[in-house]
Amino acid sequence: MSEFINKYVRTHSCCALNKFDEGKEVVLMGWVATRRDHGGLIFVDLRDREGMTQIVFNPETDQRVHELAGHLRSEYCLGITGKVHLRPQGMSNPKLKTGDIEIIVNDFEVFNKSKTPPFPIEDAIDTNEDTRLQYRYLDLRRSPLQKNMRIRSEVARVTRDYLFKKGFLEIETPFLTKSTPEGARDYLVPSRVHHGQFYALPQSPQLFKQLLMVAGFERYFQIVRCFRDEDLRADRQPEFTQIDLEMSFVNRDQVMEVMEGLIISLWKEVLNIEITAPIPRITYDESLRRFGLDAPDMRYGLELEVVTDIFEKSGFKVFQTVASTGGLIQALKIPQKSDFTRSEIDEFTSFVGIYGAKGLAYIKILENEWQSPITKFLSDAEKQELKKRLSLIVGDIVFFGAGKQKVVHESLGHLRKEIARKLGLADPKKQSFVWVVDFPLFAWDEEEKRPVAVHHPFTAPRAEDISLMEKEPLKAKTDAYDLVLNGSEIGGGSIRIHDNAVQKKVFDLLKLSDSEANEKFGFLLEALQFGAPPHGGLAFGLDRIVMLMTNSPSIRDVIAFPKTQKATDPMTEAPSSVNPKQLLELGIKVENKS
Ligand code: AMO
Ligand code: AMP
Repeated sequence: MSEFINKYVRTHSCCALNKFDEGKEVVLMGWVATRRDHGGLIFVDLRDREGMTQIVFNPETDQRVHELAGHLRSEYCLGITGKVHLRPQGMSNPKLKTGDIEIIVNDFEVFNKSKTPPFPIEDAIDTNEDTRLQYRYLDLRRSPLQKNMRIRSEVARVTRDYLFKKGFLEIETPFLTKSTPEGARDYLVPSRVHHGQFYALPQSPQLFKQLLMVAGFERYFQIVRCFRDEDLRADRQPEFTQIDLEMSFVNRDQVMEVMEGLIISLWKEVLNIEITAPIPRITYDESLRRFGLDAPDMRYGLELEVVTDIFEKSGFKVFQTVASTGGLIQALKIPQKSDFTRSEIDEFTSFVGIYGAKGLAYIKILENEWQSPITKFLSDAEKQELKKRLSLIVGDIVFFGAGKQKVVHESLGHLRKEIARKLGLADPKKQSFVWVVDFPLFAWDEEEKRPVAVHHPFTAPRAEDISLMEKEPLKAKTDAYDLVLNGSEIGGGSIRIHDNAVQKKVFDLLKLSDSEANEKFGFLLEALQFGAPPHGGLAFGLDRIVMLMTNSPSIRDVIAFPKTQKATDPMTEAPSSVNPKQLLELGIKVENKS
């Protein structure tokens, strides 16, 4: 099709040439980033994935070539041949790696013209995201996204290298699987052959990797797509990628050590940042008490304090009731921010409302008074105790959350993050890794009035807690671990149940009847009766890792073709309706949502 391509072989990338290449005849290929007409000369910045080189069309070199160059426009795709020249004195561009040279063009071919792009192919643009996603192939030409995709590719490469060295086998697992309860909502795929029956796309390869351990592979990994139909956020996509692993004959610390090694290799080889081992650990209980959340951002202080006991006999009825009925009261001190305005405090109050908080009491410690809607109810002793416990000084402000433990933790935990964000307290250069360990096996689901698994129902209780399963299952802890970086959960895993009886007991506590457990998980219960080895593993969120490595504000910035917040793709317009014939074949009748 192209004479040029048949005649010439590309000799260099657009980032490769410098002053030592003066005089070389070269062949470059790429896209027109910019074109400037300067009197007789036409300058083009030619861009490929590696960088940019200035090429020059000079009427004195070739009149015809110069004339044709007059028709070049942004994003035309071309090949050129020419000679490397040093730029004239004073004309170097120190911002470009190729800034000392330019190519005087002898011959070129426009491989393809381009329509005017809907947005400039530049680093910083303010085009709305829907347009960028509609023309994602153009958006991806911009250098920040090119850089992100490269880092993503590097993460996959280093991961494979590290895990192969550690004896892991890469094994694929199916995408058309069985819908199982106890996770997020499934994406379903109707069966044509079996009308009324559905496959589910995997939320993770959890059960298959456990079966690979039963099958004797000992160390498995996969860089694998997972699908979850859940509410999307800045760090959640309906399809996302896990670095998924499982190991046999290991305890919790051995799994964590191998995982830590992977993280250290990734940060070292991809970003050249040294992470020192061991990564610190915090228990789940301590994380909630000090930071309100199970994924604590430990780059800054602002720790929560328990103050329930101070208010047991308080004149402030709201607090006194909470304190005397088994609730929790916690304080969040923001040093030297008594200048928060009324409207800022109102904003914080509605913010904590999202997490179910009924109010947000506060006290401003001013020179002559404690300014607050609640001080009139507080005794001197209460004030003295607060002052001592929280080391209050003039200029501080304290916020209070009172109520059920879960609500207080979530509302103050998120408020702590929100205020840190507002005040710019989280250093974007810091890499604050922490393992959260000793998760409870179950949490109580108030709506369903039954326990639900905190990690997933295949997580083993700690050996010493097995006996709690009969009488106080909610007190049982697990050998589960989450790896958190700067307040984001980047991975999670656990030691699994390898004993059929314990697995049955967990299903039982989750209120799965025997027949339901058999129908949904019969294959697992059966496999556990064929010499299943002790095993455990973990999955990292690859997209989240790359998002944090690149300081990207959204997970969409590190996925080539992501979905919008509404799980749509503006480019292909998925999801879309299908031909009625296809539906007929599947035996599906669509009812309009009323
Ligand atoms: P979990 O559900 O914790 O564990 O998922 C592991 C990691 O995957 C990432 N992640 C997501 N990333 C982007 N979008 C999403 N919707 C999304 N959901 C999860 C997170 C999370 O830490 N099978 C278990 C792992 C195991 O026990 O081995 C599992 O899937 O970074
Ligand atoms: P009220 O008694 O409703 O006027 O509330 C007095 C102050 O206490 C207001 O600042 C409320 O925001 C705050 N408040 C009320 N309920 C709670 C609660 N459960 N936790 C924290 N603060 C609360």
